[in-house]
Amino acid sequence: MKYDKSEALHKDAMKTAPGGTHTANRYVDPHFVFKKANGAYIYDADDNKYIDYQAAFGPFILGHNYKTVNDRVFDVLQRTDLFGVGTTDLEIELANKLNEHIPSVDQVLFCNAGSEATYHAIRLSRAVTERKKIIKFQGCYHGWHDYVARNMLSDWDKVMERDPGSAGILDEAIDNTLVCRFNDLGNVKQTLEENKDEVAAIILEPIPHNIGCIMPQDGFLQGLRDLADENGIILIFDEIITGFRHGLGGFQEAAGVTPDLTTFGKAMANGFPMAAIGGKKKYMERFNTNPGGDVWFAGTFNGHAVGTAASLATIEMMENEPVHDHIFNLGDRMRNGLREIYDRLGIESYVTGYGSVYTSYFMNFEPKNYLDLKHNDGDFYVKYRRKLIDNGVFEMPVNLKRNHISYSHTKGDIDTTLEISEKVLKEMIK
Ligand SMILES: Cc1ncc(COP(=O)(O)O)c(C=O)c1O
Repeated sequence: MKYDKSEALHKDAMKTAPGGTHTANRYVDPHFVFKKANGAYIYDADDNKYIDYQAAFGPFILGHNYKTVNDRVFDVLQRTDLFGVGTTDLEIELANKLNEHIPSVDQVLFCNAGSEATYHAIRLSRAVTERKKIIKFQGCYHGWHDYVARNMLSDWDKVMERDPGSAGILDEAIDNTLVCRFNDLGNVKQTLEENKDEVAAIILEPIPHNIGCIMPQDGFLQGLRDLADENGIILIFDEIITGFRHGLGGFQEAAGVTPDLTTFGKAMANGFPMAAIGGKKKYMERFNTNPGGDVWFAGTFNGHAVGTAASLATIEMMENEPVHDHIFNLGDRMRNGLREIYDRLGIESYVTGYGSVYTSYFMNFEPKNYLDLKHNDGDFYVKYRRKLIDNGVFEMPVNLKRNHISYSHTKGDIDTTLEISEKVLKEMIK
């Protein structure tokens, strides 16, 4: 593959945007400039075509430029856009859908990005509990804001240490966010004992997909639920990746554990900007969208017709078509195929995933938390993905990143991907 046009355009982009990309982790080598997307495929400036599993970090559950969703958006824009006063029929309809499908959601509020949703969930938790501290887990990502931007993909010597994700964060914000080990209830218990009556919320990705796919071990999520109840803490599931992708009821439905608050984004609107926070009425009513509420909630673009219409069309597709059956089946096909190839080639690996999400760690046991991932061969992980890209399969060429299958992917796409994987792996181990 040649990337000459991409590289030349990127040089231009660097002049007027720092690094030439508009989100930190979009900066990869080679410096791609993309021009077209359709279904399961994306096309770069050099007209290279890829089967896409990056899926823009997860929104595309139906596929790129999905006609049903786009048509609904175009249609709605014939009559409405944004008012900035009152509410809209689209907001009401969509709120009803979330209430209908998601076990923990009595009430919901819409915003535009996942980071906004997690920010609001944390502020609400602090208001409800009148406590300052929160607990997050090493390796989990909940957005870019100060309350959560620490101990994400930490360097190995910074794991569980004080590891701010950015310069410019207030010390107080960093130090009021405590960090625990995923799948380690003992560690959470101990942290709660050391910070007795000080913790407002526990926030987690119920499956930490920001480091690939670490499955919660039996009893872990329920254990957090129990600890939250015993200690008067708000339990927040950040379902920004798992929500809608792993089922209409989110992963909470499959896990049978009900959080107090949940955040949604990504797959909810199949690629259009949209996010939500939902939860128990007694907490949600504290937002000042409700007369007498004392927790600020606002946003000029909240509930925009584009995001609400796209969400309605996406959710209706999931209601009416076998979207989850299809993507779960293809996920199994991919994971089984990869396992078979690694076994045959004698490559040490742990193939994992849930439903439509998959990845292969190059290590020989199931990782239970971020620290275990030190055993993954990160160089191999990235090199493998770079070679896949050179052969027309797009997996993000960054260590620990996951892959996403959409309703537009076919068995043929999966089989082609497996053939290319085998070819690439054979070259790598030669
Ligand atoms: C689990 C999780 N929470 C929150 C966010 C932040 O969402 P956004 O990038 O829309 O602000 C992300 C983004 O990747 C995420 O994966």
